[in-house]
Amino acid sequence: MKVIKTIRETREVVYTARRAGKTVGLVPTMGALHEGHGQLIERARAESGLLIVSIFVNPLQFGPGEDYSRYPRTLEADLDFCKARDVDVVFNPEPSELYPDQQKTFVEVEEIPSELCGRSRPGHFRGVATVVLKLFNVVLPDRAYFGEKDAQQLRVIEQMALDLNVPVEIVPVGTVREADGLAISSRNRYLTPDQRRTAPILYQALNAAYQALCSGEREVAKVLAASEAVLAEEPAVRKEYLEVVDARLMTPVTTVDGPVRIAGAVWIEKTRLIDNLYWKEKR
Ligand code: PAF
Repeated sequence: MKVIKTIRETREVVYTARRAGKTVGLVPTMGALHEGHGQLIERARAESGLLIVSIFVNPLQFGPGEDYSRYPRTLEADLDFCKARDVDVVFNPEPSELYPDQQKTFVEVEEIPSELCGRSRPGHFRGVATVVLKLFNVVLPDRAYFGEKDAQQLRVIEQMALDLNVPVEIVPVGTVREADGLAISSRNRYLTPDQRRTAPILYQALNAAYQALCSGEREVAKVLAASEAVLAEEPAVRKEYLEVVDARLMTPVTTVDGPVRIAGAVWIEKTRLIDNLYWKEKR
């Protein structure tokens, strides 16, 4: 496995692979790799001749006061993780490699980032869309893999690729959960053992709404009341949002008449956790 720091060298490896007729897969990450990333890598490995994992904590997607500086950086363990999964190249640039000048060009997707995480993290999805397009321009992959746990991010990237005619197939990969339902996330490692025990309440709350939909309830206020009741059992968990949104636009609906995501964000002290469930009527 090669660990590459520069855009030039990454492009050379990609060029050589393409000349040999290989397809190129990209798994963009910010490191602190876990089994969620493991699933992305496994899927990408099965579908790519050349598999590149990027590890880059992107300053552009963190707002002032967010956890950019304390975001877990575990490069040695991440490289072992990738090696064990037969990754060909880890692209691990310094910020100055991807941002050689003060960035003046940004990718701004409209509407999709406006609700959910976008409300409390202004500029976050602009930072994500911009860095992802930059990574696409460096690697020029055939396919790129993103987790459904970050459903709003996934929709922003899908829309960006569609609107800008980016010739990359965006492949969504399902959320990976611990046995108790907690969605696996790099930020779970901030949780103390006590907080870890309460953390699955978010999944349980989303699941209550999911069950309400399965039982035929279509009024969102009633669907969410089921979730709120579950969350209220844990006063240590502070709700940021709990919403039922249109699965494409990621904007709230009042009545469910098509595919939706039930999405939530909570705080357990200083740790912010997000999760969501996709729901669609079975016909
Ligand atoms: O999901 C992430 O880890 C990041 O937002 C991404 C897509 C790698 C962009 O920095």
